[in-house]
Amino acid sequence: STAPLIDPFGRAVNYLRVSVTDRCDFRCVYCMAEDMNFLPKAEVLSLEEIDRVASAFVALGTRKLRLTGGEPLVRRNIMDLIRSLGRHIRSGDLDELTLTTNGSMLFKHAQGLAEAGVRRINVSLDTLDAPKFQAITRWGRLDKVMGGLEAAKAAGLAVKINCVALKGVNDDEFHRMVEWCGEMGFDLVFIEVMPMGEMGDVSRLDQYLPLSMVRAELRKRWTLDEIDYRTGGPARYTLVRETGRRVGFITPLTHNFCESCNRVRLTCTGTLYMCLGQEDAADLRTPLRLSDDDDLLVTAIREAITRKPKGHDFIIDRRRHAAAVPRHMSVTGG
Ligand code: GTP
Ligand code: 5AD
Ligand code: SF4
Repeated sequence: STAPLIDPFGRAVNYLRVSVTDRCDFRCVYCMAEDMNFLPKAEVLSLEEIDRVASAFVALGTRKLRLTGGEPLVRRNIMDLIRSLGRHIRSGDLDELTLTTNGSMLFKHAQGLAEAGVRRINVSLDTLDAPKFQAITRWGRLDKVMGGLEAAKAAGLAVKINCVALKGVNDDEFHRMVEWCGEMGFDLVFIEVMPMGEMGDVSRLDQYLPLSMVRAELRKRWTLDEIDYRTGGPARYTLVRETGRRVGFITPLTHNFCESCNRVRLTCTGTLYMCLGQEDAADLRTPLRLSDDDDLLVTAIREAITRKPKGHDFIIDRRRHAAAVPRHMSVTGG
């Protein structure tokens, strides 16, 4: 049947995030270890298989599809998948086809994304300072990302900048970020750092900054008008009167937004996580590969949704140096 997906808490699941690869050309300190072991190819879904799962979700009422990674644009032939998924936009079955990217390959793909039906992209950018950018991403080059952002603008893509707030790292730049996004015509979203992946080094806990403090700092210079703009994601937005652009806040730790959760996450190996902050997951790869029709797959998806948990239990605990969730952010793509 094609009845929409409703979880045990009455929440409609209509937003699918798909991590198309666990690989990335960066090594952001809060996302990956420097020496990551990547998955063997046989375990990774083919682009055709990803298309099948995503399209099954669309048939079950998914209205928003976001590709993530790792870095989605480093996956070979990724534009073939994006062009193919664009058919759901053209048919009206999907409201939004989009991606979250580190921007490093945007200079090459921005135009193609726009042509495929992508209207808006989210680009992770925590700093405007080149040496600092290198320190956070370990392998990243800021000038390449800036080139990509120019290409996105030229292609007519709307851009939202994701900025993870890191105490002692980028907390001297928040005003500059607001100003720069105003100049560029980008939305900006600040994010509380979530305790995912090995937390052997306590420094990452020490970098946690509640966004109430970021808001208070921003208010010293900007007028933030509350607005009820929503994207279907977790951010709560304000409009900056002086720039005319939106600034949003994603606060998993200080203000839990799980009660309005509408999303699930597919990893590149076909595992469905019902929550970013929980370990419980469903294997969709086996039913997918067992049969060419989607009956088994749809049954597995429906079963998984009955197990969607109420929410995460992220806490920042300075006494306990273990991550709240042991898997790295790069597995589920945020
Ligand atoms: P929009 O469509 O622009 O609203 O994007 P989005 O916020 O849904 O996605 P994006 O990939 O830009 O994610 C921004 C941040 O929100 C990342 O740090 C994600 O990990 C986080 N995020 C998204 N959904 C959830 C969620 O359900 N729970 C938690 N804890 N964090 C989430
Ligand atoms: N906490 C919060 N946000 C994170 N991201 C990656 N790791 C973390 C983390 N530990 C962000 C990235 C990207 C988005 C998908 O998730 O910066 O913008
Ligand atoms: Fe790559 Fe994004 Fe993770 Fe950074 S946060 S390592 S850019 S996947």
